[in-house]
Amino acid sequence: MKRLESAQTPAEARALRLLRALGSPVRLRIVEIVAVRKDCTGPQLAEELGLAQSSLFEHLTALREAGLIEVSGEGPNRYYGLDPSVLDSLAAYLGGVGGRTRTWVLPAGTSPGDGGIEIRDARLDDAPAIARIYNQGIEDRTATLETELRSPEERAEWLAAHDGRHPVLMAVDSAGVAVGWASLNRFNARAAYDHVTDMSVFVARESRGRGVGDALLTALEARARANGYHKMVLAAFPTNAPGIRLYQRHGLLVVGTYHEQGLLDGRWVDVVVMEKILR
Ligand SMILES: CC(C)(COP(=O)(O)OP(=O)(O)OC[C@H]1O[C@@H](n2cnc3c(N)ncnc32)[C@H](O)[C@@H]1OP(=O)(O)O)[C@@H](O)C(=O)NCCC(=O)NCCS
Repeated sequence: MKRLESAQTPAEARALRLLRALGSPVRLRIVEIVAVRKDCTGPQLAEELGLAQSSLFEHLTALREAGLIEVSGEGPNRYYGLDPSVLDSLAAYLGGVGGRTRTWVLPAGTSPGDGGIEIRDARLDDAPAIARIYNQGIEDRTATLETELRSPEERAEWLAAHDGRHPVLMAVDSAGVAVGWASLNRFNARAAYDHVTDMSVFVARESRGRGVGDALLTALEARARANGYHKMVLAAFPTNAPGIRLYQRHGLLVVGTYHEQGLLDGRWVDVVVMEKILR
């Protein structure tokens, strides 16, 4: 049991903590009430739930310790509120587990683990492959708010603008065909943000679900560490199950959700923000 607990990823440990705290009908009800009413006092909650104050306090303490419920004010003005990003992180974790049930089995010999994929720095002549793979991601509408398809020439300029601190990596199969790319991107031009890097990962349609994204992300994180970054961040659609799963497996945690952040083909789209501190 000890070994299993020490083998938990931060995302798993966080999900477990939340599930334990939520593991009773009363606590679920408290969370629902506070979600609807925004801020509630203890007496209001006790009345709505028909609970004694002492019993309510015990449940509120458990929810607070898990980070679900926040407290503001003192005495009769003591209010209980909800941190929605904590619930979002649990939803994203469970969504990733759900995604795993749809994982397909690899034909023998096609996994990067078999030595089939090489990760290397991008060269200028990779621009057409980067454009092809990026355009697939843009057309799929599952990955990015970008809607403008890119030309090899435009990607060549983009590549040239990426310096050693912001590398672009290529995943190439044993036949030399590019099957994915990943990059570290400037998060914000202000100097105080120099320790934070944004990241992108795109895998060719025909090569998804075979661990290419995993191999790219492993190499990208190693490069971010080598470049001295303190943190990696990214934005993803909450519906992008393979992406969220991949990021969570690499220890990225959900910071929160921008609701209705983009208007894509006439529909509002939410965006999940994720981060990993590189200790
Ligand atoms: C997201 C993306 C980069 C992941 O790369 P990948 O090579 O397909 O990912 P991997 O094979 O390394 O697998 C990632 C995880 O998602 C799971 N997964 C793969 N396909 C899935 C699917 N269709 N549904 C649910 N889960 C899926 C895998 O099982 C794996 O989890 P596991 O290792 O715990 O089993 C790739 O799918 C992609 O390029 N998509 C389009 C562009 C995109 O979304 N980029 C990210 C923008 S934020």
